[in-house]
Amino acid sequence: MSLYFENQPSSSEIRERIRGYSSWLEINLDNIGNNLRELQNHTKTTIMAVVKNNAYGHGLVPVTAYLESQGVEWCMVAKLYEALKLREAGLKLNVLCMDVLFTSEQYKSVVDKEITQAIYTQEDADKLQEAALKAGDHATVFVKVDTGLNRVGVRHSEAAEFIEYVYKLSMVDVVGIFSTFQQNPEMDKEMLAKLLAVDATLKKKGINIPIRSMSSTDATFHNPKGWLDLVRPGMSLYGVYPEKKDLSAPVDLKQALSLKARIEYVKTVERGEGVTYWGKFVAPKRMRIGTIHAGFYDGIPREMANKGRILVDGVYKSSLGSVSLNHYLVDLDGVDVEKGSVVEIISETGENTISKTAETAGWMTYSLLNHLHTNTPRVYYLNGEPVALLNPVNQ
Ligand SMILES: Cc1ncc(COP(=O)(O)O)c(C=O)c1O
Repeated sequence: MSLYFENQPSSSEIRERIRGYSSWLEINLDNIGNNLRELQNHTKTTIMAVVKNNAYGHGLVPVTAYLESQGVEWCMVAKLYEALKLREAGLKLNVLCMDVLFTSEQYKSVVDKEITQAIYTQEDADKLQEAALKAGDHATVFVKVDTGLNRVGVRHSEAAEFIEYVYKLSMVDVVGIFSTFQQNPEMDKEMLAKLLAVDATLKKKGINIPIRSMSSTDATFHNPKGWLDLVRPGMSLYGVYPEKKDLSAPVDLKQALSLKARIEYVKTVERGEGVTYWGKFVAPKRMRIGTIHAGFYDGIPREMANKGRILVDGVYKSSLGSVSLNHYLVDLDGVDVEKGSVVEIISETGENTISKTAETAGWMTYSLLNHLHTNTPRVYYLNGEPVALLNPVNQ
């Protein structure tokens, strides 16, 4: 296991800390391991783990440390600060940084910290060459080719010439070319052909780029021709099928994340009383209601008002009223709880998974995961034991 896990508090200490938490996320690393193996067996190609945006809310450093311990050699981040955090944590795997760089310090740190930078302009190439010359160390890059997404990247018709230019720079090594599909089957065929044409033109000139990549989760599931030398799964690695159509994918994924919280207060309201802001719920009878200390601060969509399913004492109960910043209310009819009892707002399976919660809220699964607050503590489990704690506010 990686040094990161060796330096964590003991399981009993983590359990003791959780007793004081009002809301927290649990990450089942075994499930991430299962998903990694499923994707590896399915594609038989190199996996670049997409750990950007705090590993889609799962926690950047612990998740990446775990993936590295499982043999993953590449990961991708969106921000330079994420890449630097991984290096500060002592992780050695290759990190592809998708951030845009502005200052000479940024180009310098990419070179100094051996981060692979995504580039698509001559300005970037020249600045990396300059930083690498100063450092006396090579810069490594992936060139982003725009094959039709029209977001970022060197246009496919100009890509071969640009890549040849970068390839000839003495201190910049082109280790990969990559592009991103539109996720529209007809268009994706054309986009793949465009990237392969760029590669073929380069090969004719004697330029062999080691890695070609196009696939995120969608193509990893549905488009084997797009797998090439490396696939870049994000959502699937965390065990989420992004859309209903994806459930047919021949991989058995297991959701890794759950959101837990504690009952802070139990009370009875009378028939006809309004509950929460604007009286969003009106009690149809005398009711026992629990207030949970979690809310849209933690990332619970406000659209879950009166619609959430919360696992309480082994039973799914309805959320009641509006979702407050820090409070979420639940029907306690027929369940036995008190202050401090643990409930599950998002569960690994059942009526309140990430997919089902996102569907109820009318959100994308991506939005749900990427709105989980970074300050909410995260607890990591292996073989059912807590093995790491990520707690940015040190509570
Ligand atoms: C360039 C790139 N590759 C891969 C991914 C991973 O996508 P997904 O989570 O759908 O697998 C993303 C995510 O947005 C991305 O921007």
